[in-house]
Amino acid sequence: MSRKLKIGVLISGRGSNLHSLIEATKTNNFPAEIVIVIANVPNITGLEIAKKARIPVQIINHKNFNEREFFEDELHGVLTKAKVELVCLAGFMRILTDHFIDLWLDKIINIHPSLLPSFKGLNTHNRAIESGAKFSGCTIHFVRPEMDDGPIIIQAVVAIEQNDTSDTLANRILVEEHKIYPLAVKLIATKQISIRNGQARLKNPIYPRSALLNPC
Ligand code: GRF
Repeated sequence: MSRKLKIGVLISGRGSNLHSLIEATKTNNFPAEIVIVIANVPNITGLEIAKKARIPVQIINHKNFNEREFFEDELHGVLTKAKVELVCLAGFMRILTDHFIDLWLDKIINIHPSLLPSFKGLNTHNRAIESGAKFSGCTIHFVRPEMDDGPIIIQAVVAIEQNDTSDTLANRILVEEHKIYPLAVKLIATKQISIRNGQARLKNPIYPRSALLNPC
């Protein structure tokens, strides 16, 4: 097995996507390893998940920095020191500046619980339900300066049921999030993704498109 891609996971809370990534890295021949987990908030369950898996953790509390740039300097320093090659935002609730995103261009990905470009931002599930849309889902994308924007790597589709509440829809989408985040990391680590004309493309479509929509 060739060298594993070193990933750093940034979290702000529960950490269920972090958990799915950790579980994936334990599977045979998974081409990436988590070398550090960074939280901008102390005392969150995501940190406990990382510690239990014996992954190095670092808390960089944004409240300790007067300027966003100083916070990001620290973040960049820690990621660089850990030799991170791909940054995975997994419920990271902090807006990053253009400067930071430029430093990590095409090396930073995010998960959003909607079918982007629909329903960017917060309160996603309520807005999806109230729009009358029949489907929602989740998206893994490369990060760009505009929030929840950037080349889409994978999406999974989830039907919106007539009696869905924000919670019931969120729960069903979360199940799919936990499948597609590891898959996106695997595709990047095995160099299956290229970015052309602002779009992420599969170099060798080893997975049929249907498998990318609903991986299992
Ligand atoms: C997920 O729904 C993710 O899509 C969104 O924030 C939530 C984080 O959940 N960006 P968790 O911390 O991974 O459990």
